[in-house]
Amino acid sequence: MQKSNNSESEHSSLRARKRVCIVTFGCQMNEADSEDIAVSFRRRGFELTGELKKADAVVVNTCTVRQKAEDKALSQIGRLRKWKRERPHGKLFVVGCAAEKLGGKFIMKKFPFVDAVIGSKSIAGADEVLEGYFGAGLREAPAESLFTSPVSAYVTIMRGCPLKCSYCVVPSVRGEAAYLPAEEILGEVKARAGGGAREIIFLGQTVNSYRHGKTDFAGLLRRAAETDKVKRIRFMSPHPLYFDDAFFRAFAEEPKLSRHIHLPVQSGSDRLLKAMRRGYDRARYLGILKDLRAAAPDAAVSTDFIVGYPGETEEDFRDTLSLAREGGFAFAFCFKYSQRGDAKGLAPDLAEKEIEERLERLLCEVKKNSRDILNSRIGKMEEVLLESADSGRTSSDFKVKLDAAAGLKAGGLVRAEIYGADKNVLKGRPIP
Ligand code: 5AD
Ligand code: SF4
Repeated sequence: MQKSNNSESEHSSLRARKRVCIVTFGCQMNEADSEDIAVSFRRRGFELTGELKKADAVVVNTCTVRQKAEDKALSQIGRLRKWKRERPHGKLFVVGCAAEKLGGKFIMKKFPFVDAVIGSKSIAGADEVLEGYFGAGLREAPAESLFTSPVSAYVTIMRGCPLKCSYCVVPSVRGEAAYLPAEEILGEVKARAGGGAREIIFLGQTVNSYRHGKTDFAGLLRRAAETDKVKRIRFMSPHPLYFDDAFFRAFAEEPKLSRHIHLPVQSGSDRLLKAMRRGYDRARYLGILKDLRAAAPDAAVSTDFIVGYPGETEEDFRDTLSLAREGGFAFAFCFKYSQRGDAKGLAPDLAEKEIEERLERLLCEVKKNSRDILNSRIGKMEEVLLESADSGRTSSDFKVKLDAAAGLKAGGLVRAEIYGADKNVLKGRPIP
């Protein structure tokens, strides 16, 4: 943690309601960290606001997975210069992955109006840092009133990453893999359910590598499913290396497990998968999709692709295109390669224009498949977890807009007949 000289501690806990605005970039891990930070602020009498001009404190939670993400976060901080000038007593915190990668010194030098910098590796100590500014706050506040998400709640089950994919910055900014004790995780699941959550989303960089003491990933999922009020359990993101029979059995048997799996593949070319050090080849990946669908035939799978990895030939790219078809993905995020990780020395050797062209071709393929998969759900009965009175998500994570019906409210489960699809959203008729 880096602290500026002009940031005198202000021990003023629990006076009039102050407001904090938390701006989050990046992945669900960052969103989960932001939720924890929100809890710390609430303990100190703050309420959340989405409006910077109403905020007494601002947190920018940064991402650095690709250069574009880092640039976005930095320009957001730059825009806060004016905010700080107009509120000399306002406090500005920069946290997260770009903060970790660039370092407190760099950020404070570039943006001297920042009060404190907390990188991802130190994020567990954020509460202590806030204590220095706003006092100790309430220690034992009722958990229900502190959490923000009414229907879905993130629960982090591991930090860091055990792998070293060549293109990835995560192991260096989030550190080595560390798994939380099962009892602690289950305690949080219960607290979240008590606070109104009906869907729990377990988070980790290689979430299915979970093991702590005698509890493996399948065991953790089964135990979490015993929590009464929890109606659905999802997890993000698994890695192909860590699937085992115990998991496939749980996936087949446990109805509360979401039938959606986000399984990043990155490339369809064996040559590139090897260069990326992914630890599997195309055949192994497709084998896992087969096992998943054998365990749960209605499962929907989504993925991530990287386009323009150094050395990607037209043939490699065609392998990716054909995998996009063969995988039957409900959707896929497609990213242009950004120089990071061990591959950092390797400049993209294609012209920007060529990479853009490949990206377009891939997106076109992905969209076509998405549409087909969405349409294939028409005529089916689905269980919808409501996020509002007239919309929600299927277990396979398709968004559903429901016809009006009495008695529906956020957090409820309703059976619906799917009768159409509009853009990326299914249309459903609730069945009483
Ligand atoms: N360049 C482009 N995409 C990347 N991703 C991770 N690192 C990079 C990079 N250097 C993508 C991967 C990953 C997702 C979260 O971000 O597809 O699955
Ligand atoms: Fe998440 Fe990785 Fe971005 Fe950090 S760098 S916020 S772990 S995507």
